Amino acid sequence: MSGESRVKNAALRSKIMSAEEAAQFIQPGANVGMSGFTGAGYPKAVPQALARRMRAAHERGEAFKIGMWTGASTAPELDGTLAQADGVDLRLPYQSDPDIRRRINSGEINYIDIHLSHVSQYTAFGFLGHLDVALIEITAILEDGRLVPSSSVGNNNTWLDQADKVILEVNSWQNPALEGMHDIYHGTALPPDRTPLPITSTGQRIGTPYFTVDPGKVVAIVETNAPDRNSPFTAPDEGSRRIAGHILDFLANEVRHGRLPKNLLPIQSGVGNVANAVLSGLNAGPYQNLTAYTEVLQDGMLDMLKSGTLATASCTAFSLSPDALEELNRDLPLFRDKIVLRPQEISNHPEAIRRLGVIAMNGIIEADIYGNVNSTHIMGSQIMNGIGGSGDFARNAYLSMFMSPSTAKRGAISAIVPMVSHVDHSEHDVQVLITEQGLADLRGLSPKKRAVAIIENCAHPDYRDQLMDYFKRALDLAPGKHTPHILSEALSWHERFVTTGHM
Ligand code: COA
Repeated sequence: MSGESRVKNAALRSKIMSAEEAAQFIQPGANVGMSGFTGAGYPKAVPQALARRMRAAHERGEAFKIGMWTGASTAPELDGTLAQADGVDLRLPYQSDPDIRRRINSGEINYIDIHLSHVSQYTAFGFLGHLDVALIEITAILEDGRLVPSSSVGNNNTWLDQADKVILEVNSWQNPALEGMHDIYHGTALPPDRTPLPITSTGQRIGTPYFTVDPGKVVAIVETNAPDRNSPFTAPDEGSRRIAGHILDFLANEVRHGRLPKNLLPIQSGVGNVANAVLSGLNAGPYQNLTAYTEVLQDGMLDMLKSGTLATASCTAFSLSPDALEELNRDLPLFRDKIVLRPQEISNHPEAIRRLGVIAMNGIIEADIYGNVNSTHIMGSQIMNGIGGSGDFARNAYLSMFMSPSTAKRGAISAIVPMVSHVDHSEHDVQVLITEQGLADLRGLSPKKRAVAIIENCAHPDYRDQLMDYFKRALDLAPGKHTPHILSEALSWHERFVTTGHM
């Protein structure tokens, strides 16, 4: 532990204890609302102590599992640790951990995949059951008891409000300069008392920089000093650069036709390497003073803030590679006025996304010839990550764009299929589809025209003829000519991939 304690409130200082002692407050069967959004701001000590308790209980033949609610995915020290201890009964609302994923797909863990903007209100409405404990990483506790949030906000304010008991991890690794960068909005009342969300620009602040908590609920405070952990991004490959190129051409054309202003509209960029490559492409392009209203701020956006391509960014979490994180922490004061960290209910709020006219760009698993998108499932039944915020943005954006390599598993699987094996975003929420092969602008097209645009522009040449053959036969044989399908064949397309063993 380095330096002076960051727990400045005298009464709360008496609650400081070890992670082992704090973990005693979490009972088998409890629902625990944890901080953490990608590899940022997740609790780092208590989950590991809890995992040891779980293992000891299992050795005694006793059941010990919890309901694990977070902001989104976290890191191996949280998701991985509790999964390996066989301690998770229910997981929500998003994950990307290999151990959690394996157990969800084997049926051991129940998973509820929720739009990220919905989690807070679902909790307040009581749809998810009772929240027993909040386990939240913060940067510091002020003398008056207010809490300085950490490198992600997620659902923390909701967990702090709704849980019976609160355990705080005060992480002195987190940069003290984070104080003042958050905007915690407490004005979201439940219907019928809900009022308009007063956000009219990306960098606007409408709340306070701090969380508040009823001190009577705080049962334990654990001091930690441990880094956030995210995986590095891979350098953009040729395919990602081509996807970025198609998007840049498309945006330039929209500006030429007066459908977008010169500095575009606020951008939202999804998770993953392709999304990060698109940001690199935007950074290398002609743009100045762009803005971002997005869920996570990844390396590409940090580069854009540094270069001046991006003026302000609103998000709920940092999702930075180790190198970018080091750079951010070194220069944090330079970014203070450019970045606002908000609760995920607000970073992903449909009203703000619609009002600001966000340009949403998200990755997919597969899309079908009519424009329905599967973001979450492999071969229809195995979860990959979850819908995350992609639905919040896609449904409400000014421009809803989805991108993917045209094939997966070194060309063995086509990302363009006759009928998606699972639907996350229906044809009504998908306006532009992009692969390295090209871009299909689906706006204003009827289903049959969409099919031709997608097959001709987005499908890989190895699959184009097969898809066109399917479409033409469907047009001929289907009883309805609006969205022609040969249902017996549409989904068997996926079975041929199963037999190749590429799952
Ligand atoms: N069939 C089988 N596997 C497929 C596949 C397909 N059609 N498409 C992708 N995959 C596999 C890839 O092979 C890769 O597997 P690997 O990790 O074993 O190599 C994995 O899925 C990820 O694919 P990749 O091409 O690396 O894409 P990505 O990193 O851009 O992620 C998603 C794509 C869809 C998984 C990711 O964007 C996601 O989770 N989206 C949903 C949430 C979201 O959009 N959040 C942002 C909102 S703010």
